[in-house]
Amino acid sequence: MDGLRKNRGGLPRVIKQLESTHGAGVILAETYGQLISTVEAFQRLRVRILLQEFVREAAGEDIRAIVVGGKVVASMRRVAQPGEFRSNLHRGASAQPEALSKAEEALVVRAVAVMGLDVAGVDLLRSSRGPLVLEVNASPGLEGIENTTGVDVAGHIIRLAERKVRAGSASSAMDE
Ligand SMILES: Nc1ncnc2c1ncn2[C@@H]1O[C@H](COP(=O)(O)OP(=O)(O)O)[C@@H](O)[C@H]1O
Ligand SMILES: [Mg+2]
Repeated sequence: MDGLRKNRGGLPRVIKQLESTHGAGVILAETYGQLISTVEAFQRLRVRILLQEFVREAAGEDIRAIVVGGKVVASMRRVAQPGEFRSNLHRGASAQPEALSKAEEALVVRAVAVMGLDVAGVDLLRSSRGPLVLEVNASPGLEGIENTTGVDVAGHIIRLAERKVRAGSASSAMDE
């Protein structure tokens, strides 16, 4: 707690439960009082949390991109409801298709490669110092992004699986 008190540079802060989903474990602390009492409450409950800088200029918007087999196959911009900073579709955010810049695309593909994933959903914030990765989700929901973009993401995943199976049987045939 002393560390939090001393580190005066970082308000507001975002407090996140590591197991958060649909934005339900994501809290904005505007004051040190809020920050410290919320962290204390989570510690008492033995809930694991992380603290993040609040990217104010993202203003309730984020980008969700789906990567399949090292390529971005679909991307959308999500806009939170008025008065809400969390742009999860489950919190009533609206969404529209959105193309990524070259820099965003490269960042998203690299984030998924670092995690060693074939399929992932990446959340990005557009900050004043460029795109920031918020989350790499190894089992992203498909309904929202497919409805918003019209891209058959599941089809991309199935075709990747088929390619991998074929490649796998080719190498095991060579092993024999
Ligand atoms: N550090 C942050 N700064 C600004 N907005 C944030 C920040 N972290 C999260 N958000 C907003 O809250 C939403 C939910 O956060 P996220 O980390 O993706 O949690 P979840 O896993 O529950 O979806 C994000 O989509 C984004 O709109
Ligand atoms: Mg999220």
